[in-house]
Amino acid sequence: MTATQRKILVTSALPYANGPIHLGHMLEYIQTDIWVRFQKLRGHNCTYVCADDAHGTAIMLKAEQLGRTPEEQIAVVKAEHERDFAAFLVGFDNYHSTHSDENRHFSNLIYARNRDKGYIVAREITQLFDPEKQMFLADRFVKGTCPKCGTADQYGDNCEACGATYAASELKDPRSTISGATPVLKANTQLFFDLPKFDGMLKEWTRSGRLQEGIANKLAEWLEAGLQQWDISREAPYFGFEIPDHPGKHFYVWLDAPIGYMASFENLCARRPDLKFDDYWGKDSTAELYHFIGKDIINFHGLFWPAMLTGADFRTPTAIFSHGFVTVNGAKMSKSRGTFIKAETYLRHLNPEYLRYYFAAKLSGHIDDIDLNLEDFAQRVNADLVNKVVNIASRSAGFIAKQGGKLSAHNAEPDLLAEAQGKAAVIADFYEQREFGKAMREIMAIADKANQYIDEKAPWALAKQPGKEQEVLDVCTVGINLFRLLVIYLKPVLPKLAAETEAFLKVAPFHWEDVNNLLLDHAINTFKPLMQRVDMKQIEALIEDGKTEAAAEAPAKPKTALDADPVAPVISFDEFAKVDIRVAKIVAAGHVAGADKLLQLTLDIGGETRNVFAGIKSAYQPEDLVGKLTVMVANLAPRKMKFGMSEGMVLAAGPGGKDIFILEPDSGAIPGMRVK
Ligand code: MSP
Ligand code: ZN
Repeated sequence: MTATQRKILVTSALPYANGPIHLGHMLEYIQTDIWVRFQKLRGHNCTYVCADDAHGTAIMLKAEQLGRTPEEQIAVVKAEHERDFAAFLVGFDNYHSTHSDENRHFSNLIYARNRDKGYIVAREITQLFDPEKQMFLADRFVKGTCPKCGTADQYGDNCEACGATYAASELKDPRSTISGATPVLKANTQLFFDLPKFDGMLKEWTRSGRLQEGIANKLAEWLEAGLQQWDISREAPYFGFEIPDHPGKHFYVWLDAPIGYMASFENLCARRPDLKFDDYWGKDSTAELYHFIGKDIINFHGLFWPAMLTGADFRTPTAIFSHGFVTVNGAKMSKSRGTFIKAETYLRHLNPEYLRYYFAAKLSGHIDDIDLNLEDFAQRVNADLVNKVVNIASRSAGFIAKQGGKLSAHNAEPDLLAEAQGKAAVIADFYEQREFGKAMREIMAIADKANQYIDEKAPWALAKQPGKEQEVLDVCTVGINLFRLLVIYLKPVLPKLAAETEAFLKVAPFHWEDVNNLLLDHAINTFKPLMQRVDMKQIEALIEDGKTEAAAEAPAKPKTALDADPVAPVISFDEFAKVDIRVAKIVAAGHVAGADKLLQLTLDIGGETRNVFAGIKSAYQPEDLVGKLTVMVANLAPRKMKFGMSEGMVLAAGPGGKDIFILEPDSGAIPGMRVK
């Protein structure tokens, strides 16, 4: 313990318990872990907690789809998450769950304190209600046609086809996924967190140096636009905590999710008497509190969370550190390209420290996206870690072993070693600022100098000359000492390499301060290769594996509208030849009383007119159709429909909804013209 020891609590965002950890997630946990390991290496009192985010409708539905209870689902996923994080050497001090007693306790407490101060308001809203099941429907329990693009079968919160977000009540043709019934609108009371009351507090808080500049600007835009009350309650069925004074209603998952940071810490306090909850979370806490998050969840962490904490008399975070998103080979991670790489899949093919190093080399304190270019990845790992860093040890160790395995007592290159030691402050500063890329460049510059030194001294040539034993030992001792310094600097990024190096050098676990000493007159172990080169073949195998997995998981989903059609029987050419397809001019069009998809068209096929009912109402107003051309099957047997006789069939192409295409009048087609 030193006088300047800092008390720090660090969190990463809590991953959802409905799916596996992938390499996008790993960026965040690796970034956080490097920063935490750096603080610990410096001797600070740093604690790192996380948990699974276990609540919400998505998790409930996922469990249902897998035939599990939500409790079973979150237990299975938590074990998988913990396994993957451990394999990537992410060293949480505690990993908990938001579905826990501690989290229920703090959620109730934070809610009650805010309520008692008047920050929770009940408001009546209209919500979709399932008349058969007699229940209000969460967004995810309503499906229908997207109001923006017309794609069918979309959830009540957003459209997977066009990305639009909307209220479930805006869906066209909505239906309850529970009963299939058409939902009705019904008034309901929900609880809201009165965020606008924190407007002044948040305007100040977001400008007090706790956020990266770009983030503070983004939040300022939202603050300018005006804050809205935040709906924090959800109706049953919902997997979450029931609100104590509102039976049947539950806290919205995003209310209790960040409280999970507290819950995980409290859970750790129970077995760590040196940690006191109030020292870290109390209003007067002097401890530092940092949340590492992705840029997609800044509104929750930069607005709702500090407001909720303030309303409940807890301290707010010292800072929030956001990062950008991972892309692979320049594009969004994609299942079909095999680049949606799960942590587990990566681990079957490659060493986790490669990825830790690659992300470190690319990370900065900003929120730029980070591209995992797989060729660059292989090249970088081989060039820096294998050819530069580890190579220094493998070039030096053999000659020391030949001379009895003990380092020289003499420092033959004080300037070079002092220069490498002198980089400690700037490297530490870069780590502290999360400028890991800059730290890696400083470290690799030292490695370059070390290799140059060994090249110049060429111990392999000296070793062949009689009487040069001491010189060989001196040179290789400098080499080993440079290697040792590099490994101390890299220890936050490469903890396993560091542990193996500690064993090789027969020393106690490194601290940052150890850069101030050198290792002289000290017996070391025989050297074993510390890291293998990456082969592009391993990467190709990884991608193939990713593709196979994605294909196995994917529901057999049609790729195009054509694939979606029931398989049509093959027809002979003669059968096809019987179909009389003609260009037709729409001479009149009108609505059909009582029909919500059909329009009535009068079609001219060159002197002869036909009455046809066509299901294109979603795309056209009747008046817009008059004068346009279309293509029709002219020899279809007339069909008697509810609305009258239909004398043919209009052919039009498109995905449906607003996009059904007919021909423009100037297309050059002439009514009556045959189409095949
Ligand atoms: N459960 C919420 C967080 C609650 S925190 C109180 C959540 N979970 S998540 O599983 O979707 O994401 C967890 C973290 O991983 C988030 O910070 C998110 O930004 C990050 N990432 C998820 N995919 C990512 C990439 N492709 N790239 C970088 N980080 C990404 O959000
Ligand atoms: Zn849409």
